[in-house]
Amino acid sequence: MLLPASRGPVSAAVIDAARGGDATVPPHDGDDLHGADTQLALWVVYELSYRGFDDAADDAEWDLRLVAWRRGVETAIEAGLRRRTADDVAVAREASDDLVGQLRALVAHVDGPPLARFLQRSATRDQVLEFLTERSVYHLKESDPHAFVLPRVDGPAKVALAELLYDEYGGGRPERLHSLLYADALRSCGIDATYGAHVANASGPTLLSNNVMSLLGLQRRLHGASLGHLAAFETTSTDPCRRIAAGIERVGLPEAAAAYFHEHVEADAVHEQVVLTDICANAVDADPSLRDDVLFGAAVCLRVDADAGAALMDRWTSEAAVAAHDSADDLVRSA
Ligand SMILES: [Fe+2]
Ligand SMILES: [Fe+2]
Repeated sequence: MLLPASRGPVSAAVIDAARGGDATVPPHDGDDLHGADTQLALWVVYELSYRGFDDAADDAEWDLRLVAWRRGVETAIEAGLRRRTADDVAVAREASDDLVGQLRALVAHVDGPPLARFLQRSATRDQVLEFLTERSVYHLKESDPHAFVLPRVDGPAKVALAELLYDEYGGGRPERLHSLLYADALRSCGIDATYGAHVANASGPTLLSNNVMSLLGLQRRLHGASLGHLAAFETTSTDPCRRIAAGIERVGLPEAAAAYFHEHVEADAVHEQVVLTDICANAVDADPSLRDDVLFGAAVCLRVDADAGAALMDRWTSEAAVAAHDSADDLVRSA
């Protein structure tokens, strides 16, 4: 993969530094944290710790300019997310004494936009394709962010996380890697399935929802939050996947595209149990101080994924409004 085109001054400086150029990367200073420019820059910095870029400097991952910039942005994002989710965590704490009950209460408390229902019932073929493309930012590297947590836990939680990851990584069969199943789904729809292909056009909220996974996964201090994120992710997957598969079939896209989501209706019903009981509850039993961070990570997942879904639906609603306005104009002109 090559470094993407920049989307503003922040990503321009970060991309130049990653390439080995002599750009100064100014510290984060109140710029639009959630905008596509900063979020693309952060995605690029994180990607240096995954598969990287063919045209980045070999040691860019630990370039001190990028590390310093990243720490400033991460601190600001984490502080904002802690403020935003404090009430959610308090609601979960109130709802139950045990962690599984708290996580379930959290999922019930945070309402996302009706994206899956819209895809199932009303979305056009182009909107379904746009959804699949936007989601590729995550699914083409599916599970990689949470894999960073494996060496940071021990005992039963480690064994259960390894079991879940083994499933996500194909259960011993390279052709069943979930990222590869998603690539197959994209290709069957005629969408470019190259790793990272659609990052440059993804919305700020979509990039943020991906970046928080790296933020939580790459910092050992936050590994409890990464586990909580995984819990919320798996717990809110089964029903939406069933609806999305139905939507894909409704608009006549190939069976290979629906197959990825059918697979996740089954798989994530199992993963939900594994992540709640065997991973999170065991991790908190072993280290009770993790509890609030597990709940924090779960709330972060629910809030930022809701934002990413809402951004997509807002785009479609405003396109529909423009189209309705244009056709009303046409009517007036032809009258
Ligand atoms: Fe998966
Ligand atoms: Fe899963």
